[in-house]
Amino acid sequence: MPDRYDLPTGFRWGAATAAYQIEGAVTEDGRGPSVWDVFAARPGTVRDGHTGAVACDHYHRYPEDIALMKNLGLDGYRFSIAWPRVLPTGSGPVNPAGLAFYDRLVDALLDAGITPLPTLFHWDLPQALEDGGGWLNRDTAHHFADYAAIVTDRLGDRVPAWITLNEPFVHTVFGYALGTHAPGRTLMLEALPAAHHQLLAHGLAASVLHDRGLEVMLSNNLTPVEPATSSDADLAAAQAYDALHNRLFTDPVLLGRYPDLSALGVPDDLYGAIHPGDTDLIAAPGLDGLGLNFYNPTRIAAPTEPGLPFDFVDIPDVPHTAFGWPVVPDALRQLLLSLRDTYGKTLPPITITENGCSVTESTTPDQPRIDFMSAHLDALAAATAEGIDIRGYYTWSLLDNYEWAEGYHQRFGLVHVDFATQRRTPRASYAWYRDLIAAHRVLRAR
Ligand code: BGC
Ligand code: BGC
Repeated sequence: MPDRYDLPTGFRWGAATAAYQIEGAVTEDGRGPSVWDVFAARPGTVRDGHTGAVACDHYHRYPEDIALMKNLGLDGYRFSIAWPRVLPTGSGPVNPAGLAFYDRLVDALLDAGITPLPTLFHWDLPQALEDGGGWLNRDTAHHFADYAAIVTDRLGDRVPAWITLNEPFVHTVFGYALGTHAPGRTLMLEALPAAHHQLLAHGLAASVLHDRGLEVMLSNNLTPVEPATSSDADLAAAQAYDALHNRLFTDPVLLGRYPDLSALGVPDDLYGAIHPGDTDLIAAPGLDGLGLNFYNPTRIAAPTEPGLPFDFVDIPDVPHTAFGWPVVPDALRQLLLSLRDTYGKTLPPITITENGCSVTESTTPDQPRIDFMSAHLDALAAATAEGIDIRGYYTWSLLDNYEWAEGYHQRFGLVHVDFATQRRTPRASYAWYRDLIAAHRVLRAR
């Protein structure tokens, strides 16, 4: 059986973070408020009222964090750019101090021999745009393309590859359908125009980036969906969920068409959001790579109550992370094979842009995280042996950070952060990953 040591030569080892989850400094140097600042300040939204106001204070401590990355031996670092730092009101005047921060960050990464992989949008929409309708407003897609141009004009000379959006599924569903993330809207399926406008934003920005000779990826959170039983009802429910979670965010980009959502009762034009020509705008620029964020498979049953046409069912008899997510590493291999079945030649090379788990703080010596990462990397090696083109792995996450609605309670870091003192302490998984990266380099150099 191939394992992680067999991953191909040139495989990129990385770690990932996101702006609002680590930067802090939310009112510094002209940054405007984002939807997350406003949402987290509202009582009852985030566990224990935690906010990202300080987070890991990475805005000031980035040199220390880059030293940790360098010592780890990373090839690449995925981070996100806070739109409201660059454009405090989302459109309109540029904030030079905000752009200068990312300029310093990029240079410091390059000095450390680490390739920057920025994401342009990881959920922290400028609040001023939200006040104008946020992702429910089509104009936001055009503002995003303008923002992409501004950022890449500044950094594109040193940063070759870019991710447009992080997980439009999670942002649409948690942010606009269920309201558990910012901006906290509870529109249920009528949130879907927010999905289309994000995909349109991706397409428009992808053209901007390609015009500048840059590579473009999109990071989707995909999950293999399995029916709870082989009954027709469970199978239909699983297909409906797969269309909503996976195909809705990948078909338009890779196939130039939307999946059939009629089983959900969703109109073909997504409640009027899709205009003629939009699917071309989304697909035509093409994707140089598909970013895949993988955490867990999903088991679905037919609904027991009226409402949505599916129910979530736990996957018993497997380990669960501190977050309660089932750990099924082979599901990653199966997902990769099914992507090839679905998209064939249109499937671009894949980069795992997130994978990792939260571990209970008292767990020593961090063995569940090591087991999680090693098993998922073994699954990647198995998929590679079956012919899937996988270019790299960015673990989530470098540091313990602000885990959205869970505040600081879920700890995903290879490095422990004491949020009272900002002291960073590498965990056992950090040493394990460092040794794996070093061993892989030696083996591949032979
Ligand atoms: C999903 C994860 C996702 C998370 C977002 C979970 O329900 O299983 O894949 O990243 O929600 O917080
Ligand atoms: C997101 C991250 C998040 C992680 C764990 C993904 O959904 O992109 O921001 O911290 O999963 O929930």
